[in-house]
Parts: sequence; structure tokens; C-alpha cells
Amino acid sequence: MADDRWTAADDYIDARLAPGDPVLEAALKAAAEAGLPSINVSPSQGKLLQVLARGLGARKILEIGTLGGYSTIWLGRALPPGGRLITLEVSPHHADVARANLARAGLEKVVEVRVGRAQDTLPAMVAAGEGPFDLIFIDADKAGYPAYLDWSLRLSRPGTVILADNVVRGGQIADPASEDEAVVGVQRYIEALAAEPRVSATVIQTVGRKGYDGFALAVVQG
Ligand code: SAH
Ligand code: DHB
Ligand code: MG
Repeated sequence: MADDRWTAADDYIDARLAPGDPVLEAALKAAAEAGLPSINVSPSQGKLLQVLARGLGARKILEIGTLGGYSTIWLGRALPPGGRLITLEVSPHHADVARANLARAGLEKVVEVRVGRAQDTLPAMVAAGEGPFDLIFIDADKAGYPAYLDWSLRLSRPGTVILADNVVRGGQIADPASEDEAVVGVQRYIEALAAEPRVSATVIQTVGRKGYDGFALAVVQG
């Protein structure tokens, strides 16, 4: 579902506040040529990630779901000198494309792409004592979101912001009878946020070039 007005407004906003640059354009082109699906965040959404990361003064960022590294570039560019970003990706092919895109962005020393199922790499990070992260962006398989929240909390400190993409899904989030595993995954994610005393959370619904969707935003409280 998309609406011409949403796309036109996105074009207006992107052109002024999130203009493409050769590195970002090349990342999308390389991803498309390598056969990756175009399910990356939009430019203005990438800018949202960047504004948030800068506003938080984030020095350590965790991303779950790399694809071709498009959102990763927006986030990586928000880091101060010495900052670090770890991004988790199940597909070795996606990770290869992302590494090439991140190198073109000059971020190869800042970003580490870690290959594996996040269900496995997150527990390994907890066991290794990694974290806490200042900002965590959850954007992998939607059925995994509830588990990713649990692991993210173990990699957080009070003040950590946990952002999750694609939680409104054209409004399907409001359908209690949905049997779509992605819808059920994000519903369970929202329910888990609601039941979790360690976070305060909300959802911002979005429209634009990519249709009608939304982000869940949570802050870990002390
Ligand atoms: N954040 C990216 C888009 C990510 S798309 C951007 O906006 O540019 C979702 C990605 O999650 C895909 O690359 C997919 O391969 C990956 N993924 C799916 N299941 C996963 C899992 N269990 N663990 C880690 N990554 C997973
Ligand atoms: C899908 C995944 C995403 O992260 C997204 O932003 C859009 C679509 C998908 O799996 O279809
Ligand atoms: Mg997404």
C-alpha cells in the first residue's frame, strides 16, 4: 500500500533533509545488482536513525539485520571518533555486499559485520560481556523480535534506546486474528515492551515511499 501524496512528501523531505550522496546511492545500486531485496530504510528514515544516534551521543551502536549496509552507513556516520558499530546478519552474501558498501563509505574500521543467526550471535555477545550499547536498531526477521528484545536488554544500560523497524505493517498490527508470522512477531514485541518494567516505550506510525509502517522506540530505565 502506497499513496502518491506520501511519496511526493517523501521526495520533498528527502531532497532537502536526506539528499542522497554517491556513497549511499552506490550502496543501493550494489545491493540491487547483487540481488538483495530493496527493503532498506528510506533516506529520511536513515536520517532519523542518524539524528537519534547523534542526539544520544551514541558511541556504541548495535544493529540486528544488516542487508546491504544502507541503514548501517547512516548510523555509522553518526559515530564520533573512536565509536563502534556491530551489525548482525544471517546471510553471508548480504554481509559481503554490506562490507564492500561500508568500505566505500570509509567505515570498514568503525563497523563490524558479524555473520550468523542473531538468535546465536546475540547470546554469544552477552556471554563475551560485550556492551552496553547506547543505541540498538532491530530490523531482522520479525518473528525474532521478541527474543531480540530480551537479548538487547542484556546488552543495555539505563538510557539505552532500542528502536525496532516495521512494527505497524500497513495497520495489520491491530488485527488480533492475524496468522502472518511477521505480524504476530511484532505484536508479541509490542506486548513484551508493554509488560517490561525496565523500558518505557511508544510507537511512531510512518507513511512515505515505502507505504504505511512504523517504528517502536523504547528507552531502558534505571
Ligand atoms: N537494516 C537494513 C535492512 C535489513 S533487512 C537497512 O535498512 O538497510 C533484514 C535483514 O535481516 C536481511 O538482510 C536478512 O538476511 C537479515 N536476517 C533475517 N533473519 C535474520 C536472523 N535470524 N539473524 C540475523 N539476520 C537476519
Ligand atoms: C521487510 C523487512 C524489512 O526490514 C523492511 O524494512 C521491509 C520489508 C521484509 O522482510 O519484507
Ligand atoms: Mg526494516
